[in-house]
Formats: sequence, C-alpha cells, structure tokens
Amino acid sequence: MTAEIKIYPQPAKLAEVVAVELQKASKQANDAGRRFNLVLAGGGTPRAVYQVLTRPEFRKSIAWDCVHFFWGDERCVSPDHEDSNFRMAKETLLDTLAILEENIHRIRGESDPTAEATRYAEEIINHLKPQPEETPRFDWVLLGLGTDGHTASLFPGVELIEDRSGVCAVAVQPQSGQKRITLTNRVLNQARRVSFIVTGKSKAQVVADILNESPESQNYPAAQIHPQQGTLEWFLDEEAAEKLKE
Ligand code: 6PG
Repeated sequence: MTAEIKIYPQPAKLAEVVAVELQKASKQANDAGRRFNLVLAGGGTPRAVYQVLTRPEFRKSIAWDCVHFFWGDERCVSPDHEDSNFRMAKETLLDTLAILEENIHRIRGESDPTAEATRYAEEIINHLKPQPEETPRFDWVLLGLGTDGHTASLFPGVELIEDRSGVCAVAVQPQSGQKRITLTNRVLNQARRVSFIVTGKSKAQVVADILNESPESQNYPAAQIHPQQGTLEWFLDEEAAEKLKE
C-alpha cells in the first residue's frame, strides 16, 4: 500500500482541498443514508482546515447532521483548557456549524485517564458496531505529525497503557509528562482513509525521513500508519515537502 503524496504551495490551499474532500466524502455517505465517522486531528495544523469548513460554501453544502466527530487523541485537561484539542475544534468549527450534540464524541480529558480510555473505547465500539473481535473502522482519520515522528499521542519509545479492547490507550507526552488519551495504531490502521496534514519547514526533515523510509524513522509511530484496507494520504505544503525533492 503506497501513500499518496499531495503537495500544495500554501497551507491555505491545502486546507481548501481537504475541505472539498470532506464535502465529497460526506455527500457520498449521506446519499447512501450512512453516517460519516470522522476523526479530527489534534494540535494546531488542522485549525486552517476547520476554519475553511465554516465558510458559507461548505457550511451550507455539507450535510453536517450525517457527520460524527471523534478525536484521534486528547490532552488530559478540562475541555475549556487552552491545550484541549476539543476546545480548538469547538471554537473553530463545532460551535460555528452548530453541530448536534449527539454528533460530537469528545474524549473527556477531565476524567481519570485509565477510566476514560475504557469509556471512549466503549463509545467508539457502540457507535461503529464492529463485528465481534473486529477493530472499529472509521471513515476518515485526520492526523498531524510531530517533529519526533509522533502522531496522535503515539510517541516514539513511550509505552502505552491500552484499554482491554485495544482501541484506546493512555500515553504520556515525553517532554511535558502530560497525560494523553489516544487511539491506538490498530484503530488508526483500520480506517477506510487516513490523511496526514503537515505544513511548515519544521516538519520537512521528519516528513522526508518517513516518506523516504530512512532507518531512523522505522520506529516512528507515524511511520507505522499503513491502513490495511484503506488509503493513506499525505497532504503537505511546499515547506513541509521541501526535503522530499532532494
Ligand atoms: C496533539 C496531536 C499531535 C499533533 C502533532 C502536530 O494532540 O498534539 O494529536 O499528534 O498532531 O503534535 O502538532 P501541530 O499541528 O501543532 O504541529
């Protein structure tokens, strides 16, 4: 399974392309009478995409009632904390679009991490209804990338405390010690579509390491993302892609 690499001159153009992709994919699901189960990325990069989605041409054309929002990971903080991935999405996207409460499946960062990993896994399983022993399957997972090769809150060399279903885990951000709840590699790789959204010069080396399959990147969690029966895309701006050309 090879990754599709898509490079755009500016982050703004990349964000528009991702928004159009969401418009197309969610229309397909809605026309088929299906929900569209979307996993939002954390961190700052996706903000540009969320802001584009609130433009009238998307706000009015996407059947938002069929889109269910999940998160790839969350910091173990309250939902109004400045670090909260939920808060960023709420402020830039969910409130503006008046997304239905039942369509928002946030990770409760304020709860006990171990208990929340179990609870969130149950919420995911109850919503996606996988066959027994099957891994729950999302329609589209958006991911960011850290300069150390992490994605979601899967950090290199950091042991995970997985919930018994193997759907969620408790992780620790290695520099800050901040606890995180994250989807596991297993769930991310089960998705129908996984898209990394990466911009900026600071990510150029790690992007090149991963996409050129350099030896040091082999243990990067982001390098372990290869959906078995899904598509893998890298949406990059020219800065993040600049070392790919070398
Ligand atoms: C998080 C994210 C994390 C993020 C990368 C990139 O909760 O922080 O899940 O994996 O996507 O650290 O973050 P930026 O987009 O802010 O560079």
